[in-house]
Amino acid sequence: MAKKLHTIDIAGTPVNIGEGVFGELQDHLTTTLATKEVIFILADENTIHHCYPVLISMVPHLEKANKIVIKPGEENKTIETCEKIWNQMAVEGANRQSLLINLGGGVICDLGGFAASVFHRGMAFINIPTSLMGMIDASLGGKTGVDLYSLKNQIGLFSKPAGVYVWPGFLSTLPHRQMLSGFAEMMKHALIADAAFWKKLTKIPMAVVADWEDHILTAIKIKAKIVNKDPNENGIRRQLNFGHTIGHAFETYSLRNDESPLTHGEAVAMGMICEAYISYRSLGLDHAQRDELVKNILLNFSHYKIPTEAIDELVEITHYDKKNRKGRLMLTLIQDIGKAVEGQQCELALVRESLFRYTDFSRHVPRE
Ligand SMILES: NC(=O)c1ccc[n+]([C@@H]2O[C@H](COP(=O)([O-])OP(=O)(O)OC[C@H]3O[C@@H](n4cnc5c(N)ncnc54)[C@H](O)[C@@H]3O)[C@@H](O)[C@H]2O)c1
Repeated sequence: MAKKLHTIDIAGTPVNIGEGVFGELQDHLTTTLATKEVIFILADENTIHHCYPVLISMVPHLEKANKIVIKPGEENKTIETCEKIWNQMAVEGANRQSLLINLGGGVICDLGGFAASVFHRGMAFINIPTSLMGMIDASLGGKTGVDLYSLKNQIGLFSKPAGVYVWPGFLSTLPHRQMLSGFAEMMKHALIADAAFWKKLTKIPMAVVADWEDHILTAIKIKAKIVNKDPNENGIRRQLNFGHTIGHAFETYSLRNDESPLTHGEAVAMGMICEAYISYRSLGLDHAQRDELVKNILLNFSHYKIPTEAIDELVEITHYDKKNRKGRLMLTLIQDIGKAVEGQQCELALVRESLFRYTDFSRHVPRE
């Protein structure tokens, strides 16, 4: 029986999802990509251990590919890591006819996509996401880049992968905390565009979800629909940034201050709590919906405690958000669960107020 395979086009890139992806990848490598002279596989120390052996067993063609292995984690999503990648590729004969296969989570996809896109003015790359975050978000839509002094994604470019191959089986080795991190973006996809999906996600705790493939497919379709309308993020694509302006501030703050920093998804989850409060204050989000959102986030994620003295630093970090225009903070807010509105100007005083409210939210919202 043929293995299950779904293919969705995102901004001109075929995104393949399901059991049958490796057959598709094998075909891609022997047809369109057959001219690629040197193939590199970029992985981190975890995905080389857990995911590379699976890839090689499914696509033996790749056994000869050159491996590049980097340290895992957001703190390595830097230009310094890119330099190491570029050095190794140069020494091992890479050129514009080479191919980079990114095998890993969002960090590998963002970093590898960027490293490939500027090497020799652009070599092809493929994403094989291995984390939930990678599968439903980071590998899709062509945003690539690195952080600068812990400020998120300050350097980067839009660049399309030649293909994306999503095999949910990789999730069997993903640590629970990382699964949860991807779940935050899944919740965000639902909150901005699909109230029925939100209901489905909040019916049972994440830990007991059985049908991940179905959820992954729904989330990818949401992202595809938005990105295909606005691939370069001039308008509606900004909706995908709900929770991210304040979320990125939490993430940067945590990278600077914590020994074990927040994951991207944990930071976005806290950002969504604050931006839901701003949505309530300035866009008329119903308070019952706001409380439902906060309650469901705190059912899955621990409340990240910040001292009140940290609020100024968090507000300061939002100045570096890439969506800001003419020095003004521009947010994506939600009007209702399932309906986002992008390009909403927001006063810093309201960001500050949301953070003050956030510091007490865990006490205000019952945890069932
Ligand atoms: N480009 C975009 O559109 C976009 C969208 C969302 C997020 N992102 C970026 O994605 C990054 C976060 O991605 P992430 O959460 O995947 O982080 P990550 O890449 O750091 O992966 C999380 C951890 O899980 C490990 N891992 C990954 N797959 C594994 C597997 N199958 N088995 C065992 N361990 C595994 C990794 O080694 C790492 O330690 C952030 O930098 C964020 O900014 C980008």
